[in-house]
Amino acid sequence: QVFRLAREASHYVASEIAAFIRQRSDEAKMCVLGLATGSTPVSVYNELVRLHREEGLSFKNVITFNLDEYFPMQPNELQSYVRFMNEHLFDHIDIERGNIHIPDGTLAEEDVPEFCQRYEEQIAEVGGIDIQLLGIGRTGHIGFNEPGSGRNSRTRMITLDRVTRGDAASDFFGEEYVPRRAITMGVGTIAGAAQIYLLAFGEGKAQVVAQSVEGPITPNIPATYLQEHPNTRFVLDEAAAENL
Ligand code: GLP
Repeated sequence: QVFRLAREASHYVASEIAAFIRQRSDEAKMCVLGLATGSTPVSVYNELVRLHREEGLSFKNVITFNLDEYFPMQPNELQSYVRFMNEHLFDHIDIERGNIHIPDGTLAEEDVPEFCQRYEEQIAEVGGIDIQLLGIGRTGHIGFNEPGSGRNSRTRMITLDRVTRGDAASDFFGEEYVPRRAITMGVGTIAGAAQIYLLAFGEGKAQVVAQSVEGPITPNIPATYLQEHPNTRFVLDEAAAENL
């Protein structure tokens, strides 16, 4: 789905999420959202905050699972995804703190596998993810599933691709300060979501978007696995869609 402007695309996705939250609320049911970081989803979060403030959208029935976090990473650090989510969304809405889940970058390394298994169980215990938001990295990563990730991969520690670390360099004031690893939901975890919205904006994403939508399915571009998902929508601005 192509919109002229990124803002219009973001409003569309936010209104789809809001409608689903309200529908679940009317049924007195919880709603499980898979959330993404990066610059792309920021305007979706801004719009959800506006809907909360101005149109009474409540997040009391919302449970969230974030895709990924750098490792190691303290929650108060500038580049932490915990901090990102608080600043852009959670501090401004009425979600119960206990309903928020984000991979833990503070763990001792030996505790990571057990944490990841528990993360998967927690997603399963609430009945799986209803709506998953995704961005896309220039390597074709979704979450931090870098090239080589299998279609059945689950939540785990990964090594970041050089391209990804280069793209993150400005956030960390130099590539040498970008962590080498991260914890991410797997491709299989993401594919378990009932509905997926992948957002991509700007000409820098045009090539990887075209490869992901129209290219052969390959572990070299993990986003191509989404072609096998029955309910995935790429939501693009015109610039990101220009190679389609
Ligand atoms: C990071 C995140 C991804 C995100 C990607 C693209 O790698 N872990 O989830 O999709 O950045 O970021 P941006 O939206 O800033 O282009």
